[in-house]
Amino acid sequence: MSTSRIPFLDLGAAYAELRQELDAATRGVMASSQFILGPEVSTFEEEFAAYCDTRHAIGVGSGLDALRLILLGYELGPGDEVLVPSNTFIATWLAVTQAGAIPVPVEPDPLTHNITAEAVEAAISSSTKAIIPVHLYGHPADMDAIVALGRERGIPVIEDAAQAQGARCRGRRAGGLADAAGFSFYPGKNLGAMGDAGAVTTNDDGLAERVRMLRNYGSKVKYHHDVPGMNSRLDSIQAAVLRVKLRHLDEWNERRRGLAARYIDGLGGVEGLVLPAPAEWAEPVWHLFVVRHPQRDALQARLSDAGVDTIIHYPLPPHLTGAYAGEFDSARLSLTERLADEVLSLPMGPHLSQDDADRVAAAVREAVGELQTSAVS
Ligand SMILES: Cc1ncc(COP(=O)(O)O)c(C=O)c1O
Repeated sequence: MSTSRIPFLDLGAAYAELRQELDAATRGVMASSQFILGPEVSTFEEEFAAYCDTRHAIGVGSGLDALRLILLGYELGPGDEVLVPSNTFIATWLAVTQAGAIPVPVEPDPLTHNITAEAVEAAISSSTKAIIPVHLYGHPADMDAIVALGRERGIPVIEDAAQAQGARCRGRRAGGLADAAGFSFYPGKNLGAMGDAGAVTTNDDGLAERVRMLRNYGSKVKYHHDVPGMNSRLDSIQAAVLRVKLRHLDEWNERRRGLAARYIDGLGGVEGLVLPAPAEWAEPVWHLFVVRHPQRDALQARLSDAGVDTIIHYPLPPHLTGAYAGEFDSARLSLTERLADEVLSLPMGPHLSQDDADRVAAAVREAVGELQTSAVS
């Protein structure tokens, strides 16, 4: 068994596995000189829409832009409120504020880390103009009930599917579960580019058309600008990379599932350690494997000493960041703040070996045991 350091995620191994395909695909774009939009982007859009079982996929510059373009496409603006999870990556909130609207935080269910229909219903007001559930850590939010609420009130429901490429909720894939979805293809995502990239998926023809225009200077025909758009096009080289990696996504997600099962086996019954608990209707894709422990920082330090790299997703919830200083002082989000103090993401990715997952689990068991002993002595 190897004793080398276990990285949180091994992107070098991902490239090594697909090197020939990726090199050929990117060289093809360079040889074609079709650097902006063009056939790689439109073919990726078709393939990704088919994968998500949606009518449209529109390639954009990043996951943040995908969400922002959807909100702009729905013409949200000043005074409009958007329900967002209180415990998400800051981009979910930034998309809202950059569209001119107001994020209204909703606390998650502590087991799935996702917002529930009950919490959404309690937070809806007459100013609510959209709802953005996040499929956090690759576990889908319970979309059917949230979408039903949105339909009842005439409010669009937008999936933040940045962490959930390939995940399913009651058999249906993320991206096609609500009115629209924003994806990130940041390199560390389950479907990751070799730079920034993102996509919008939707079955709404009108929204798709507006997002297509907005991402490209508000233009359908070159140099004719119908709306004040922006420049957020999926890069053609990234589209070529994504086309290669999409072909491997299901198999790579399967590897993640195997590793998650191994962690759950190896870490069951460790006192004080809370493991992820997927809902029975969910097929998560384990973008992250997140455990909770009341002495998280000490656990992380001990794991690092044992050669295991971990990351915290996320050490500060958006309302406590400098970006929103002074804006949410009256917000009472105690569960979210506790989760931020307790969550720890263990190494996870398609190139983590099963032996290394077993080493991680053994190191976690040992570290938690030591923490318990030092607490009683
Ligand atoms: C939940 C969530 N939403 C949005 C984003 C934004 O994606 P990007 O980094 O591609 O802008 C990310 C990715 O980092 C994310 O994890």
